[in-house]
Amino acid sequence: MDFLSKINTQNIPKHVAVIMDGNGRWAKKQGKSRIFGHKNGVKAVKETIVAAGNAGVKALTLYAFSTENWKRPETEIKTLMTLLVTSLKNEAKDLIKNNIKLQVIGNQNHLPEIVRKGLNKVIEQTKNNTVLTLTIALSYGSREEIVNAFKNIAKKVVNNDLSVEEINENIINNHLYTFTLPDVDLMIRTSGEKRISNFLLWQIAYAELHFTDVLWPDFTKNDFYNAIIEYQTIERRFGKTSDQIKLPNEI
Ligand code: IPE
Ligand code: IPE
Ligand code: MG
Repeated sequence: MDFLSKINTQNIPKHVAVIMDGNGRWAKKQGKSRIFGHKNGVKAVKETIVAAGNAGVKALTLYAFSTENWKRPETEIKTLMTLLVTSLKNEAKDLIKNNIKLQVIGNQNHLPEIVRKGLNKVIEQTKNNTVLTLTIALSYGSREEIVNAFKNIAKKVVNNDLSVEEINENIINNHLYTFTLPDVDLMIRTSGEKRISNFLLWQIAYAELHFTDVLWPDFTKNDFYNAIIEYQTIERRFGKTSDQIKLPNEI
């Protein structure tokens, strides 16, 4: 059964972020190497992109590689980078065909040249696309992003382009890698872990959090739709009372 029809089209989260976790455990359960798990995780990435497009989500941000993941064994890092380049090559046509805009957030300086080149090509080819913005968080760490924002803001203050009094939430937002994106409405993490692992700390201030035990390679379109269906049952109050949300004109 396809759960897409159960989604209320009037209440779609604008920005969904996904922590794609559990590749290693998925492989280990079958007595295979962690790398086998990463290879099988690619299918779930495709499922998620298609599901987000079908559901009418405008922004999808996928956590592919964290600043902390550089501490993993070198062979695993190499496989992840190679997988990225090959998947990108295979998927570029579909991104273009489906009007999906690709962007990347994170510290690109650490990435191998071949990865940067491959990414930049597809980013350029899809820059005017409008149906869905697909953001890959690659060599991304939220704290690093915030440090980077602090530095850039401080430089502007030093150069007298900005006064300390002018610094507000908007200014900080505009200095994050995600400056073109709305706040995250829904964050999904697979594999049963209930932590954020340095992902979009500022941007999830009021996100709904969806944790599922499904390991990433097993994640399907229906799992994505289910997360949206659950999201739609939640009353998002943003600090207000329930009555204020339900009867906005009377209170
Ligand atoms: C997620 O799966 C992929 C990346 C972090 C790159 P893991 O590789 O973290 O898999 P587990 O958590 O060890 O099972
Ligand atoms: C978070 O997963 C990073 C990505 C999914 C890319 P990890 O598996 O690296 O997170 P921790 O270390 O378990 O928190
Ligand atoms: Mg993990």
